[in-house]
Amino acid sequence: MSTESTKDRVVIFDTTLRDGEQSPGASMNVAQKLQVALALRDLGVDILELGFPVASQGDFEAVATVAGQVEGPTLCALARANREDIDRTWEALRAARRRRLHVFLATSPLHREFKLKLSQEEVLRRAVEAVRYARERFEDVQFSAEDAVRTEPEFLAEVVERVIEAGATTVNIPDTVGYAMPAQYASLIAYLRRHVRGIERVVLSVHCHNDLGLAVANSLAAVVEGARQVECTINGIGERAGNCALEEVVMALRTRHDFFGVQTGIRTERLYPTSRLLSNVTGLQVQRNKAVVGQNAFAHEAGIHQHGVLMHRGTYEIMRAEDVGFTGNSLVLGKHSGRHVLRQRVKELGYQLDGPQIDKLFEEFKRLADRKKEVFDADLEALIQGHISPR
Ligand code: KIV
Ligand code: ZN
Repeated sequence: MSTESTKDRVVIFDTTLRDGEQSPGASMNVAQKLQVALALRDLGVDILELGFPVASQGDFEAVATVAGQVEGPTLCALARANREDIDRTWEALRAARRRRLHVFLATSPLHREFKLKLSQEEVLRRAVEAVRYARERFEDVQFSAEDAVRTEPEFLAEVVERVIEAGATTVNIPDTVGYAMPAQYASLIAYLRRHVRGIERVVLSVHCHNDLGLAVANSLAAVVEGARQVECTINGIGERAGNCALEEVVMALRTRHDFFGVQTGIRTERLYPTSRLLSNVTGLQVQRNKAVVGQNAFAHEAGIHQHGVLMHRGTYEIMRAEDVGFTGNSLVLGKHSGRHVLRQRVKELGYQLDGPQIDKLFEEFKRLADRKKEVFDADLEALIQGHISPR
């Protein structure tokens, strides 16, 4: 595992246990956080953000416990841009072998005026001071310009340049409220890469929220422009509509390697088990049609599609179900299914029926499928046994 990005390696920064946990209803206790952290380690994430230690005593303890028990990824925790937060976060991460401090400060006019009540100069000063102070303790310091997307680009460029001078090793450009359009976000990343002195010395990171359903698209657009760290969560959980979904961004980069030309270190066959684990731990269900890890992601019901995948899976599948941890694809028997899949399923169930028997069964099956959403194997067996004698 590495936090080193290269031209063709994207660092996966998982924030399921921090931003993801900020999802209403997703709070986890210490034991649950540890269980998820171990699964994320096995998945192969590069950076594991464990929490926000100053948010509560419970979160401090969770970060400290997990930091002492998980080895492999760089362990990270969030702090506001002040000395007290940084000191406390240092305490929480003390036991970690490899640690990163993630310090953030909002930079947009709305946040400066209404939340922080700080001028541009004061924001700049505070950001630089925090990064300098953090570097006295941590070798690895990430700075995030909260609400970067709604910040004046020239001011954002100045902040980024100054925190790099102060010693930041990763600089993150969050779309905190999921406001950006992919082309716009990509141009912002390109603009920073062109205008900020020293930017080649740091890893440029992206952190996108999903308010308009664009978190994954925006993250991918930024990768095209040279971002080399993507912040994401399992199942896309997170504040409001959530964060960039790890499984989606990883599979997009892998499936379209021809387009992006970059790799991640994720063991993709662990994606589905990790998604299930998180859903069980938090009680937050994954929608059936969710890309990559939803129950329907590799299920086919339409007869034409089922026939296609029986002939060649590539006809209607761009990824292999097995590569993300499912046991295989599934051909669901329903009212849209055709004769090919019925014949196949009958064979799999151990029956050998001739043409007229299959025709008869097909009629019975369609009648049943009109009444039932899905025809299960037991239903089919009942039909076979009730109406057609097996040989
Ligand atoms: O959305 C956001 O801006 C954040 C920062 C703390 C990185 O979560
Ligand atoms: Zn966020």
